[in-house]
Amino acid sequence: MRDGDETQTDGNDATSRVPASLRLRRELYRLLESQTAGGELRRAIDAALITLILANAILVLVDEAIPAHSDLARWLWAFEHLSVGLFTVEYLCRLWISVEHDAFHHLPPWRARMQYMASAAGLIDLLAILPYFVGALAAIDLRYLRLLRLFRLLKLSRYSPALQSLAAAFYQERRSFLGALLILIVALLSTASLMHLVEGESQPDAFGTLMRSMWWAIVTLTTVGYGDVVPHTPLGKLIGGASALLGLCLFALPSAIMASSFVEQIKRRDFVVNAKLVMQVPLFANVGVMHLVEIASMLKPRTVPPLYTVVRKGDPADCMYFILSGELEVELQPKPVRLASGDFFGEMGLLNRAPRSATVTAVTDTQLLVLEDIDFDKLMRLYPDMRTAIEARAADRIKAAPKK
Ligand code: CMP
Repeated sequence: MRDGDETQTDGNDATSRVPASLRLRRELYRLLESQTAGGELRRAIDAALITLILANAILVLVDEAIPAHSDLARWLWAFEHLSVGLFTVEYLCRLWISVEHDAFHHLPPWRARMQYMASAAGLIDLLAILPYFVGALAAIDLRYLRLLRLFRLLKLSRYSPALQSLAAAFYQERRSFLGALLILIVALLSTASLMHLVEGESQPDAFGTLMRSMWWAIVTLTTVGYGDVVPHTPLGKLIGGASALLGLCLFALPSAIMASSFVEQIKRRDFVVNAKLVMQVPLFANVGVMHLVEIASMLKPRTVPPLYTVVRKGDPADCMYFILSGELEVELQPKPVRLASGDFFGEMGLLNRAPRSATVTAVTDTQLLVLEDIDFDKLMRLYPDMRTAIEARAADRIKAAPKK
C-alpha cells in the first residue's frame, strides 16, 4: 500500500487521523506544485525562487570581472553556497512531494519519485545543483563549472507557461521539423556539390572539396552571407542567387510550423486551465463533458487583489462573475453582504439589462471567472436550467434587499 492511502477517508475526524508528515507533504505540494492553489505564501515562494534564479544568472555574468581574492568575491562565493543549499532543499522537497502529483497517484511512492527525477523539470532541477557537487568532488576547471551555473536559468521555465507551450509545440511538431531538416540537408549537399563542380577549379581554396563548398552553402542558405567566399563565374552567381532564395523558403517553413503549433498549444493550455476552473463552480459542476468544453471556452479567468472594486453601482453591466476563491463584499444598506467561493454576482444587471445595482469589492485575493454579456445570452439560451437557477438567485437577492 502506498503511504498516502490511509488518508482517503472523509470528515474532520479523518483529517485529524492523517499523520503530520502527510499533512505537511500535502501542504508543501500545494505551495510548490499545485496549479490551482493560489495565496500569498505561494506567490511569495515563487517570487523568492525566481529572484534567486535571476540573481544566480547575473552572478555568472559579473563573476569573471571581479578580482579573485577581493571581499566581493568572497561574498559571491558565500552566495553561491547559499544558493546551492536552497536549490538542494528545493530539489529534495520536490522529490518528496512528487508522490502527491495527480498523474503519479496510481504509482508506488518510489516510482512516482523516479518519474519526477526523469521528468524535464526534475532533470533541470538536478542540473542546477549537480555541477557544484561534481566540482567539489572532482578536479574540474572552475571556468566550466561557472558556465554550467547558467543551466539554473532553465529553472525559470517552471514559472513560464509560454516557455512550456513553446517546448510542447516543438515536441508536437518534431516530425515536421525532422522533415524540414532532411530537406535542408538535401539542399545543402546539392548546392555545395553544384558549386564544387562549377567553381572548384577557379577557386580551389573555397570550393576545391565538397567540405569546403559546404561552408559557402550553409552561409548562403541561411542567408547570412558573410561574403568571405563568393562565386566568380556567371553560372556560380546564378547558383548562388538560387541558393539564397531556396534558403529563404526553407527557413520560413519551420518558422511557420513552429508559430502555428505554438498558438495551438497556448489555446489548448488555456482550455485545460479553464476547464479545471469551470468544474470548481457549483453551477457547472454537473454539466457533461461536451458542455464543459463549450462553457470553458466562454469563461476567462481573472485575479483581483483586496480592495479592488470589481463592479461599481450605476455602471453599465457588460459581464457577470463566478467566484473561484476569495471573498467579496456587496455594498448594501444597512449591512454589506459577503460573497465567497462558489457564488456568483453581476447577474442582475445582465438579466434586467440595467446598470449595476450595487458596488462589489474584493476583500481578499480573489480568483474569478468572467462571463461576457454575449456569452451570457448564449449560455442562457442553451441551458434553460441554468437560467432558472440564476434568475431564482437574483429574485432571492431582490427580496432580501430592504424596502425603501
Ligand atoms: P449587478 O446589479 O449586475 O451588480 C451588483 C451585483 O451585486 C448584483 O448584480 C448582484 O449580483 C449582487 N447583489 C445585489 N444585491 C445583492 C444581495 N442582496 N445579496 C447578494 N448579492 C447581491
